[in-house]
Amino acid sequence: MKVIATIAELRAALKSERFKGKSIGLVPTMGYLHIGHLTLVHNSKTACDVTVVSIFVNPTQFGPNEDLSSYPRDMAGDLAKLDAEGVDYAFTPDIAEIYRQGANTIVDNPVLSRILIGKIRPGHFRGVTTVVTKLFNIVQPDQAFFGEKDYQQLTIVRRMVADLDMPIEITGVATVREDDGLACSSRNAMLTPADRKAAVILAKSLVQAEELVGCGQRSVSAIRNAVRAVLETEKRGKIESVDIRDARTLDPVSGKFKQPVVILLTVRFGKVRLIDQRVVG
Ligand code: PAJ
Repeated sequence: MKVIATIAELRAALKSERFKGKSIGLVPTMGYLHIGHLTLVHNSKTACDVTVVSIFVNPTQFGPNEDLSSYPRDMAGDLAKLDAEGVDYAFTPDIAEIYRQGANTIVDNPVLSRILIGKIRPGHFRGVTTVVTKLFNIVQPDQAFFGEKDYQQLTIVRRMVADLDMPIEITGVATVREDDGLACSSRNAMLTPADRKAAVILAKSLVQAEELVGCGQRSVSAIRNAVRAVLETEKRGKIESVDIRDARTLDPVSGKFKQPVVILLTVRFGKVRLIDQRVVG
């Protein structure tokens, strides 16, 4: 595996891959890699000739009071994992390489970035769409891989690629979970042992919702109430939001739904905000 930290070097290397007719897959990450990330890598390796994984803790998607400085990092461990997976290129730029002095152009979806998590984290998705656009322009991948766990992020990236005619196929990958059901996340490492145990409640509440839908329940409010009731049994978690939206557009749904909907959860344990999601119906 080649580890490359500059845009110029990566472009040169990928130019020669493209010249050989190789297809390129990109997996953007912020590092501290776990089995969820490695599943995206696996998907890219299956679908594409060359796989590029970027590791960049993107400062512009963190708010002033968020966990940028405490975001977990382990570059040596990450590179060893990617090497073992047979990744071709790890792209590990520093902040100055990505955000050059004077840069002030942004990419933003003023609709989708303002709702749901975007409401709790103003500016977050603008940072995501800007850095993802930059990574797309740097790597020029044929395909890029994103987790369904970050469902709003995946939806916004799909919308961006369609709206701006980016010639990239976006592949969503199902959420990878720990044995007890908790969605794998770099943030799980920041939970206290008691909170880690309690955090399984997110997955449990979604299983409950799926069971209700399986029994024919289609009422948005009934499902929301059932999910909340399960979450409320765990006093360590502070429910920030339980949303049920159209699975494709993230438009609000009410009454009885006929189309697939996504249930989106945000629950805080201490300072750690956990999210989870499930598409039903
Ligand atoms: P990060 O949180 O490191 O996640 C990188 C990718 O891994 C995202 O597409 C995310 O959805 C996916 N992922 C995380 N946990 C997963 C799980 N349990 N199962 C499946 N996929 C999972 O998301 C980001 O970084 C950043 O916002 C980024 C897109 C890199 C832009 O900075």
